[in-house]
Amino acid sequence: MRSVSIIGTGLTKFGEHWNLSFKDLIAEAGIKAIQDSGLARKDIQAVYGGCMASGRFIGQEHIGALIADQLGLNPVPSTRLEAACASGGVALRNGYITVASGLYDIVAVGGIEKMTEVSTEDAGFALGGAGDQETELFMGASFPALYALMARAHMHEFGTTEEQMAAVSVKNHKNAINNQYAQFRNEITIEDVMNSGYVASPLKLLDCSPISDGAAAVILCATEVARKMKITDKAIEIIASAQASDTLALANRKSLTKINATKVAAKQAFEQAKLKPRDVDFAELHDCFSIAEIMAIEDLGFTEKGKGGKFTEEGNTAIGGVIPTNTSGGLKAHGHPVAATGIKQAIEAYLQLNEKAHGRQVKGAEIGLAQNVGGSGATCVVHMFRRA
Ligand code: COA
Repeated sequence: MRSVSIIGTGLTKFGEHWNLSFKDLIAEAGIKAIQDSGLARKDIQAVYGGCMASGRFIGQEHIGALIADQLGLNPVPSTRLEAACASGGVALRNGYITVASGLYDIVAVGGIEKMTEVSTEDAGFALGGAGDQETELFMGASFPALYALMARAHMHEFGTTEEQMAAVSVKNHKNAINNQYAQFRNEITIEDVMNSGYVASPLKLLDCSPISDGAAAVILCATEVARKMKITDKAIEIIASAQASDTLALANRKSLTKINATKVAAKQAFEQAKLKPRDVDFAELHDCFSIAEIMAIEDLGFTEKGKGGKFTEEGNTAIGGVIPTNTSGGLKAHGHPVAATGIKQAIEAYLQLNEKAHGRQVKGAEIGLAQNVGGSGATCVVHMFRRA
């Protein structure tokens, strides 16, 4: 397999975009990424676009073809990938595989979702399709409810507190203040989270990621080709790409306090990179709900199982701490247009490793990790990055 690098990135602001269409968002992120890479449209040989539920959100399907059309890339092959909230991570991994295998030298990879065209109820129903419809969604278990079950189990088994979960949101909002692309750039306190009202007990409004619009894109290039073309000045190498699956339904899991797909994908990723959790300088994690970040830092091996709440509360995941997590603001504060998230995580790694994460830079960052989860953990993708 060949080494693959990210050579350009493009991101829209995440949030409610009443004045921008689905196509506008694709154009903004895609064209920015191509321009940032310094290449021309004719250099792109294939496109991989993550998108979870455009049919439900905006009544549009056939997203692969739409992306190529909108970006003026026809007739290159353009394919949509869907893995719920991990659609972006899966698109990145599939683009990576085609370049690593030698099939293509240069591909564009992206993620897009426009969720705010429908009511919160309809958005919740669309997102619920990421779980098991027969045993979960049709029985009334929304995504906040499923993660609330995991939070309750974590509290029961390890003594994790609601305040410890709130500390995740407080940190991620603080990080987002310095990110112009983030949906929420306001600082919040533990009290704000505690008083924000239950969505699904014990999870409150400020424990939840929001409903968002947004798009993100990156250009991938075989590192040897980028070197020949002398376009490696900002290139970030993907040093690991791993993916794992688990049961769709929580009821069929052995444990509610870990995401096994994360553990399996992380093990493979660390083996590929020949690194250990202690070697990672920063991580973008899938904090769709605050408890999800706590479980992620445990499942990735940054702290012991059951200690994630305390580890967070003590500031170990803040910038300047042991393992700065979600410097972008995470899903909580940067926003979560579901399929765009996995690509946005890679873009944050690109910025951090190029020392361009202004106001939220992790000093001397050399190794970054991104973990992108689909549903309640039925899919997990882990990527690792370093300067090319
Ligand atoms: N964090 C912070 N503020 C939020 C927020 C969030 N997650 N969600 C909404 N808000 C704010 C809005 O900006 C708005 O503020 P304003 O009154 O100052 O304009 C206010 O709260 C009400 O917003 P509204 O859109 O009416 O909220 P809602 O009650 O319809 O939706 C949730 C709130 C939590 C139910 C919704 O965001 C949600 O379902 N989140 C989870 C999404 C999800 O499951 N994703 C997949 C994960 S696997």
